[in-house]
Amino acid sequence: MKMATCLRMGMLAGLVAIAGMPAQAADALVGNAGAGESQVASVCAACHGADGNSTDPQYPKLAGQHANYIAYQLESFQSGQRANSIMSGMSSMLSRQGIADVAAYLSQQKTSPGPADEYQPALGKSIYDNGIPSAGLPACISCHGPKGLGDNAKMYPRIGGQHAQYVVQVLTGWHNGKPWGDSPHAKLVVEVAKKLTIEQINAVASYVQGLNATR
Ligand code: HEC
Ligand code: HEC
Repeated sequence: MKMATCLRMGMLAGLVAIAGMPAQAADALVGNAGAGESQVASVCAACHGADGNSTDPQYPKLAGQHANYIAYQLESFQSGQRANSIMSGMSSMLSRQGIADVAAYLSQQKTSPGPADEYQPALGKSIYDNGIPSAGLPACISCHGPKGLGDNAKMYPRIGGQHAQYVVQVLTGWHNGKPWGDSPHAKLVVEVAKKLTIEQINAVASYVQGLNATR
């Protein structure tokens, strides 16, 4: 009986969504954090952790990430704009409502603090706060904010507390020319990564991981 009520409510929500919204307005769907929690527990937790704080540093933490950004990345994996064989499969099982649900749940979780910066802290902080003007490198702080919290409205991701290993993976990939979509939005940071040396990437990634530990 309970299940039937849920199903009916789900169908009703679906109908309202179809009638009331343009087809592309994925972010306008209202996420159900409870449904998202079950989905994460059954599928995503193996890599990203039940609360979105992955323990294996090759997988990004998703806890506390902006809902808009999570939805945008899941749609990018679905369309193949962001190429990754694992996430292409994982995202393909999510409906647009399913994406809104997991995004709502994960964005409400608390990011676990990363261990404080160990690797070249002065260099990492200097790149993060000031960029490298002589190399035409803008400061990370100008988009990601002083504590790495990003900006939900502009879809700048939260990066504070993220695993350094994952940050290195992403920035090195961009540095080496691995595209991450060709949207102007993605290119904002791809162009930044191309200007960093590998040593600078390691330093700034380590600083980013320790960011919320020093908050
Ligand atoms: C088998 C491991 C695995 C599982 C299970 C998995 N993921 Fe992922 N996820 C990854 C990897 C690896 C990446 C990084 C991909 C890359 O390097 O581009 C990733 C990246 C992501 C990102 C992008 C994060 C960012 O900071 O850019 C999101 C969002 C995401 N996953 C959501 C999910 C959701 C939601 C589920 C469950 C439906 C899920 N993942 C299940 C391995 C997994
Ligand atoms: C001009 C704005 C801008 C600047 C400056 C910038 N970023 Fe970004 N960053 C972005 C945007 C936008 C994205 C999301 C890209 C996309 O997928 O569309 C992003 C994504 C990232 C990601 C991937 C996050 C994830 O989990 O998906 C990392 C890591 C990152 N930036 C680190 C840095 C670092 C380190 C610096 C400084 C060296 C920096 N960024 C400077 C705008 C910027």
